[in-house]
Amino acid sequence: MRPNSVNLMRLLTLWCARQVAEYIADVDVVLSEAFRVLKPDGRTIFITTDWDALVWYSDDAKRMAAVLKSWEAHCAHPRLPGTMPHRLKNAGFRLNDAFVYSLLNLSYDDDSYSKGLSTIIEKFVGGRGDVSASDLNDWLSEFAPLNEAGRYFFSSNRYIFKASRPAL
Ligand SMILES: C[S@@+](CC[C@H](N)C(=O)[O-])C[C@H]1O[C@@H](n2cnc3c(N)ncnc32)[C@H](O)[C@@H]1O
Repeated sequence: MRPNSVNLMRLLTLWCARQVAEYIADVDVVLSEAFRVLKPDGRTIFITTDWDALVWYSDDAKRMAAVLKSWEAHCAHPRLPGTMPHRLKNAGFRLNDAFVYSLLNLSYDDDSYSKGLSTIIEKFVGGRGDVSASDLNDWLSEFAPLNEAGRYFFSSNRYIFKASRPAL
């Protein structure tokens, strides 16, 4: 995304970004562009993830930490939420509300968020070489037996920020 890449000026009443801002290195440009295209009193909603706010049980905590550390490289800002209130205000927004939505998976089912995520992480981390192939395979293979034993636990937070462009 580049400044002035959108040929809009103060036209929009709502601008939403769900888990996109953390992928963009110059995230402050995202905020300033959102501000630019919103009408006065126009609203914005950012939904962001903090990868530190993740609880994923493993019998091998060290291996879990190594895999998640490598996974952090998949986005530009793995801890964006903690800086969002400040960034929004710096871009000119009025912060109206902020809250947390928690994802909780107590089973490793095909339709669970964390099972899908685990295969994405395995593919990404496998291409980086930070974790050995054998450790990565053991990491992924642990979830099914934990699930069968009733010991599976995954939780992740989504931080939601609602802000508006102050009226002129
Ligand atoms: C985790 S996905 C979220 C997708 C969707 N918003 C959702 O909530 O399901 C991250 C998204 O960020 C987008 N993205 C990554 N880098 C970007 C960039 N530099 N500019 C615009 N979008 C980007 C990707 O195309 C991808 O769709």
